[in-house]
Amino acid sequence: MLHETRAFPPSPEFAAQANAQADMYQAASADRLEFWADQARKHVTWKVPFTTTLDWSEAPVAKWFADGKLNAAYNAVDRHVAAGNGDRVALHFEGEPGDTRTVTYADLQREVNRAANALASIGVQTGDRVVIYLPMIVEAVVAMLACARLGAPHSVVFGGFSSDALRSRIADAGAKVVITADGGFRRGKPSALKPAVDEAVAAEGSPVEHVVVVARTGQETTMVEGRDVWWNDLMESADVEHTPVWVDAEHPLFILYTSGTTGNPKGILHTTGGYLTQTAYTHFNVFDLKPETDVYWCTADIGWVTGHSYVVYGPLLNGATQVIYEGTPDSPHQGRWWEIIEKYKVSLFYTAPTAIRTCMKWGEDIPNKYDLTSLRVLGSVGESINPEAWMWYRRVIGGDKAPIVDTWWQTETGAIMISPLPGVTATKPGSAQRPLPGISADVVNDSAESVPNGSGGYLVLSEPWPAMLRGIWGDLERFKDTYWSRFDGLYFAGDGAKKDEDGDIWLLGRVDDVMNVSGHRLSTMEIESALVSHDIVAEAAVVGAADDTTGQAVVAFVILREQSADQGATPEGVAQIQEELRNHVAKEIGPIAKPRKILVVPELPKTRSGKIMRRLLRDVAENRAVGDATTLADSSVMDLIASELSGTPGKPQA
Ligand code: PRX
Repeated sequence: MLHETRAFPPSPEFAAQANAQADMYQAASADRLEFWADQARKHVTWKVPFTTTLDWSEAPVAKWFADGKLNAAYNAVDRHVAAGNGDRVALHFEGEPGDTRTVTYADLQREVNRAANALASIGVQTGDRVVIYLPMIVEAVVAMLACARLGAPHSVVFGGFSSDALRSRIADAGAKVVITADGGFRRGKPSALKPAVDEAVAAEGSPVEHVVVVARTGQETTMVEGRDVWWNDLMESADVEHTPVWVDAEHPLFILYTSGTTGNPKGILHTTGGYLTQTAYTHFNVFDLKPETDVYWCTADIGWVTGHSYVVYGPLLNGATQVIYEGTPDSPHQGRWWEIIEKYKVSLFYTAPTAIRTCMKWGEDIPNKYDLTSLRVLGSVGESINPEAWMWYRRVIGGDKAPIVDTWWQTETGAIMISPLPGVTATKPGSAQRPLPGISADVVNDSAESVPNGSGGYLVLSEPWPAMLRGIWGDLERFKDTYWSRFDGLYFAGDGAKKDEDGDIWLLGRVDDVMNVSGHRLSTMEIESALVSHDIVAEAAVVGAADDTTGQAVVAFVILREQSADQGATPEGVAQIQEELRNHVAKEIGPIAKPRKILVVPELPKTRSGKIMRRLLRDVAENRAVGDATTLADSSVMDLIASELSGTPGKPQA
């Protein structure tokens, strides 16, 4: 992989019209702060202009553009209407059942204003947290922007998470209001959301005062008098005029929970000015957005950071016209995405490698039936894209001409950090290549020394960047400890990486106990805690095993409690246990966390200090010969597991 010789330089036509220019790298390295100040002035409208760029005196908590004032919703919506672009389409909504809705920037302004007034009418004030638990519908975008308009940080929880996951996020954020829907459409059927909210807010001590419910599916919904209110009822009586709340650049914009190496998800905190600057700057340059002519589509759900930065804030700040789609790529048929691209003449497309690999499996005949010639830039995010998938994406979807931007970033970084620039970079299949102008990234060894080209190590970020997280909600120590303690003065991303002979960066996956399943982050510990919360499980260990489609798949090893020993002794009993535990994990966390495989074992491999050796379990899960097991406390454990899995269920331990 370090000897990749294929390179795809930009065509002269593309380069001639590109937003990004090669001299941006020089400008940024000549004066990084001045470069960012320029971006902040170019891409953001300030109510009160900033005079300071970066205050790093309280590192690692950065302050960017701190004395400036602005409003995120004003920047995403109002200023486009004020500039005479109110008639431009902001959102082409495509519902899963085929219903559609076109929302112009002027429409969006009216809706966001109304929603801001509606939320204020039920007591939401600047600084209050609002949880949003919605399908991928127009109201999700409106709700986020309405919160931003009020300066009320939103915390979006992916609609696929369980009520337990929702409850713990509501509690951690101290949310006063939850915005949800009766349900959403999934594979042709309505799927309820409101019952999960009811369960989550029923818990004693819930901070939630009101639940606002969007009618999406029309399914039977129980409303609690005095607490629950229909979105439409609130919106109907709300005024269409609303003055945005001008907030300081460092005012919290949102909290987004993500899995870490320990059991509890972390509330990643993002603030306003720096985040908007970098999301708009990256969206403009990495996707080469031409707001008057492009149609952009990012397939991410708003429940993930990609939906925040590259469906809501980045594109809307840039006045883009975009598609949002509620459903899955195969509903009602496997050509649905390509049909949508043809229908709206999508020109900029952003998706994840797992989706590309799935489409590869379905065969190229499917996309070949559609006219995809409108596409001119293709993006990839969430995990490394393997060179075969990259080549397929380029040839079959991009007609061998659209540049591919493989974008590395994280919930914590807020915006794209490492990526080719279309029109500038000669792209290489499988590599995210170079830090963007203004970003300082490196690959270092255990002693924090930069590794030479051709070597591997840990990916770090060596200078603060505008969209960086400002902390973990309510836990400054955990923030310092998680990201800043491994290497002095460097942000440790948790990823392994290599530099090739040209100095281009190749991402090699997580080096901690975080798995990446279909581009979604899952913590091994979180799934282990879910498993041991079931009363038949004594102990559990979870690993991410390589998977052709999803990148990694969750594989769990469980030791049963004594009382379930008999059940674990027959193949039928084991099958039942596996089904029950898979469903239990779905209930505790959400269906995305369901283990692909659950193996009932008599022992787990542990070091003398009691640490589970996941490396050995990964060998088993990936059907490899088990590696060096000499540091095990009991070296016969791996033999025991091997004989157990070869078909003779033994007696589980107490
Ligand atoms: O391991 C890296 C992987 O996804 C992690 C961040 O996950 P999350 O916060 O959920 O954000 C995903 C969307 C930005 C990273 O630590 N990752 C993300 N993009 C890439 C990637 N790995 C390799 N190449 C990428 N382009």
